[in-house]
Amino acid sequence: MSMFSKENMNEIFEDIKKNLVRGVKDRKHTFHTPVFCNIGDQKAIESRVVVLREFDSNNMILNFHTDFRSPKIADLMQNNNSLFVFYDPKLKVQLRIKTISSVNNQNIITEKMWERTKLVSRKCYLTQKPPSSVTSLPEDGIDDNLKGKEPTLEESEKGYKNFTVVQNKIYQIDWLYLAASGHRRLKIILTDGAPSFHWLIP
Ligand SMILES: Cc1cc2nc3c(=O)[nH]c(=O)nc-3n(C[C@H](O)[C@H](O)[C@H](O)COP(=O)(O)O)c2cc1C
Repeated sequence: MSMFSKENMNEIFEDIKKNLVRGVKDRKHTFHTPVFCNIGDQKAIESRVVVLREFDSNNMILNFHTDFRSPKIADLMQNNNSLFVFYDPKLKVQLRIKTISSVNNQNIITEKMWERTKLVSRKCYLTQKPPSSVTSLPEDGIDDNLKGKEPTLEESEKGYKNFTVVQNKIYQIDWLYLAASGHRRLKIILTDGAPSFHWLIP
């Protein structure tokens, strides 16, 4: 647990970045699985857990992977406003991070990440029916011949067209430190990569 005073804006900002980096690398860190929210069809709010795959601290971009056929892709292309929520009980920190999303499919970014995607993860992109489509049976949508095993490298390549990297450019961070010693809240606005800080009443 980090032991800085929670009174120094720059230290808080550095600590946020450090923990987002950890969230990508450490599968046990609570920041590995944030909630990602966007505006869906009919303007309803949609939220779901995703795996944090990359954090580019220079450009302040958070990435996750998904299937191009998933309804959130069409929704994000319609409205690219999005939000991540992170909470870590040990750090006592909640982060609400506002982002602008961009969808990458069959481009240089997906090519690079697909190469690094293990066969077991590639399998997620091999369903016949699109994610979120209605089915008459309880099933995972994977072909019978792939049940209970990894696809071969060749079989896995059929998933590439579905493999999608959603990049999310951060423009605002709401940091909340909830502790008996005194709650603190800081809003960080990023303009062309430069942070400006505003204390808020928690
Ligand atoms: C621990 C965990 C990690 C998940 N990671 C992802 C992910 O990285 N990408 C993704 O599209 N869905 C992920 N999901 C599934 C989503 O939460 C969601 O059920 C699915 O994407 C369908 O959401 P949609 O109907 O909003 O498209 C994950 C679920 C859990 C429980």
